[in-house]
Amino acid sequence: MTRYLLAILLCLGAGSLSARQVQVHINADQGGPTINKNIYGHFAEHLGRCIYGGFYVGDDNTEIPNTNGVRNDVVEALKDLKVPVLRWPGGCFADTYHWMDGIGPKEDRPTIVNQWWGGVTEDNSFGTHDFLNMCEMLDAEPYLAANVGSGEVKELADWVQYVNHDGTSPMADLRRENGREEPWQVTYWGVGNEMWGCGGNMTPEYYANLYKQYATFMTDWSNSSNLFRIASGANVADYHWTEVLMRDIPKHLIEGVALHSYSFVEWNEKGPATGFSEAQYFSTMETALRMEELVTRHSTIMDKYDPEKRIALVVDEWGGWYNVEEGTNPGFLYQQNTMRDAMIAGTTLNIFNNHADRVRMANLAQTINVLQAVILTEDEKMLLTPTYHVMKMYNVHQDATLLPLSISSGAQYEFEGKSLPAVSGSASVNEEGAIHISLVNIDADEAQEVTVNLRGTDNKKVSGTILKAANLTDHNTFDNPDKVQPVAYKDFKRKGESMTLQLPPFSVVVLKVE
Ligand code: AHR
Repeated sequence: MTRYLLAILLCLGAGSLSARQVQVHINADQGGPTINKNIYGHFAEHLGRCIYGGFYVGDDNTEIPNTNGVRNDVVEALKDLKVPVLRWPGGCFADTYHWMDGIGPKEDRPTIVNQWWGGVTEDNSFGTHDFLNMCEMLDAEPYLAANVGSGEVKELADWVQYVNHDGTSPMADLRRENGREEPWQVTYWGVGNEMWGCGGNMTPEYYANLYKQYATFMTDWSNSSNLFRIASGANVADYHWTEVLMRDIPKHLIEGVALHSYSFVEWNEKGPATGFSEAQYFSTMETALRMEELVTRHSTIMDKYDPEKRIALVVDEWGGWYNVEEGTNPGFLYQQNTMRDAMIAGTTLNIFNNHADRVRMANLAQTINVLQAVILTEDEKMLLTPTYHVMKMYNVHQDATLLPLSISSGAQYEFEGKSLPAVSGSASVNEEGAIHISLVNIDADEAQEVTVNLRGTDNKKVSGTILKAANLTDHNTFDNPDKVQPVAYKDFKRKGESMTLQLPPFSVVVLKVE
């Protein structure tokens, strides 16, 4: 009996000794679905300094280098990032936006008050042509979010005709009058935004009916089944919302269902974006990692009604949300971006990659100067945030084939009696046969030793990139824009089919095996 107890104690001891030994298994010869590049999408709302001052500085601006008013430095940075799709003009703003206010000569455009974001005057100088031409510059697909909450069916039907109709029609003629001959052929359309809240405080049953009406009149002028209609989706864990949309909307009227979920400390006490405590970091990561459960459970409901997985889950708003920077307009949602945000980005993108069978688009909120931005600007200055660097390191997964990856891990990030899985990962193989493995260690204090067992490939050459910093709160500023930047990663040893790597605390690594 005593010997038996001793054996158990020894086993338990051995377990805790190996607690930080993480085993990752990847089967390189068992490809899964394609990781849709649109998972790496972005979102730009008429909110604070995202559009005005962020993307667009005015056609007559002579201080900041621009093309038709769009900042050249921003275009260059976003092209490097390979932004596949960009959602616009909101957000809550979308359900107050009347697209006709933003076409024609700029001096004739009416002004409106931005009722959701700071009550500022919107002069409509950045409208449909400005956005769609900018998407062409960025080589990004546009995703237009239409006004359902305070709009009309005809208004949306006309918008589709205006941007997509090739022949003679009232809207195509108007587009030509406004200087654009060819249609832009916009594929992605959101039918309202957050219809359970700022889009009109609707029940899902009411919205499902309204959705059917709007979607029916969205004509695919290209006749190539090009329209991809996305229903306004659930707020976080509102599974009933998804259930009703999937149950009530006929499949020929819908291509995507959205989901919104943000990461924060506490919704009513968000805390600072930079000087946060470890407790605040831990809570933020708890909400960020919840994305796994959200995506799994919303997908399970979708599977029930759409087992062929024809309808995409579109996470068209995600990211970290904190208090605004001191002295800035509370309605502008301007926040700094630290290694905490890099952790949110790395873990969330791993979740999306691993659910690529159902998640086929996601849009980080928001591209410039708002929430978890990839770019911050201050007059003529621009900086790239830690989130930018993670998105760029991960863009190797765009349109690659997902490889099944499992993590058998005793490694937990423990804090004040609570714990979270410390390591997350995803892997893919691209058309050239190169394998990319992205790994994140969210532990604020402990490094992890990770053994990657990679079978089913003859690829031998390994290289890597790492994003790490001295402190979790480290971030880039206009005075020190390169403080947090990726560097080459060499801290690994290869032995046969396995590789052992050291992952520093709060770091993101992307390996290439070719
Ligand atoms: O991204 C900021 C806001 O968050 C969006 O306008 C809205 O859709 C969400 O509540």
